Amino acid sequence: MQLIDGKLTSKKIREEIAEEVKQLVASGAKKPHLAAVLVGHDGGSESYVAGKMRACEEVGFNSSLIRYEDDVTEEELLAKVHELNNDDDIDGFIVQLPLPKHISEEKVTEAIDPRKDVDGFHPVNVGRMTIGMPTFVSATPQGIMELLKRYKIETSGKNVVVIGRSNIVGRPMSVLLSQKGYPGDATVTVAHSRTKNLKELCLQADIIIAAIGSPGFVKGDMVKEGAVVIDVGTTRVPSTETKSGWRLKGDVLFDEVAPKCSFITPVPGGVGPMTITSLIINTLKSAKKEIYS
Ligand SMILES: NC(=O)c1ccc[n+]([C@@H]2O[C@H](COP(=O)([O-])OP(=O)(O)OC[C@H]3O[C@@H](n4cnc5c(N)ncnc54)[C@H](OP(=O)(O)O)[C@@H]3O)[C@@H](O)[C@H]2O)c1
Repeated sequence: MQLIDGKLTSKKIREEIAEEVKQLVASGAKKPHLAAVLVGHDGGSESYVAGKMRACEEVGFNSSLIRYEDDVTEEELLAKVHELNNDDDIDGFIVQLPLPKHISEEKVTEAIDPRKDVDGFHPVNVGRMTIGMPTFVSATPQGIMELLKRYKIETSGKNVVVIGRSNIVGRPMSVLLSQKGYPGDATVTVAHSRTKNLKELCLQADIIIAAIGSPGFVKGDMVKEGAVVIDVGTTRVPSTETKSGWRLKGDVLFDEVAPKCSFITPVPGGVGPMTITSLIINTLKSAKKEIYS
């Protein structure tokens, strides 16, 4: 069994990007600039956004954090989105989800200029991904594709079961892995809460991607010998062993599943670090006008 080390891979990619940024700046270009809009004080969102800002610093990007309290109106937030769309210094920005209930996430996502949508959530970018055009691919699926590439994991003709059909993980993952080319050309099954015989489906899978949000859901008896298992799940569970009082648990029962796998991602340290790195990759692509000229 080989561990897919997202932390190490992410560190390597960030070093590569930092080097590229140095060269860009030396050639007279401005530093790439990522902005993040954060509403409220949700613990998860706070730590994701802090991680994104830290990653910018690490690779030599400029970053801006724009904060609002929970009671910000939809109009105020949309006005900020329009301002960021028109700010030439900003190469890309994200509005951290989830948003408070009185704000439409759909409206906000659609208001973001697709050319600056480095989260890859705008319907235009999702559509471009679906038909294989250059686009900002959403961060988590892109991070997983990068891990598959860097670990040279064969996907062509493989049976893949993606558990979860969310717009940010499961669905894009299934599209990317069924596309022509590498990593892709796989036969993909998308499973969800209404799927019957999930265990049987998983037992036929060469690659399982678990994006459910249910700790330890994928057990040893659901995985065939030699499978590749990618664990996207990150659920905070109480812990007496950490200073914060919680720790992250994946969707895969690691101790049971790992001995059967050819490759597996741990939680933490697998998919998670790659998600933020993918956002950095998208921001660099935007600064270099690689997707939209
Ligand atoms: N590591 C990272 O960077 C990263 C990034 C994003 C998300 N995550 C984590 O990944 C997990 C999934 O996130 P998400 O946003 O995709 O979650 P989500 O929007 O809640 O979607 C969960 C999916 O799992 C399916 N599901 C739930 N119970 C199931 C069951 N018993 N059997 C089969 N399918 C079941 C749901 O099916 P239905 O559609 O039928 O309800 C749904 O499609 C969460 O733990 C999240 O924190 C991690």
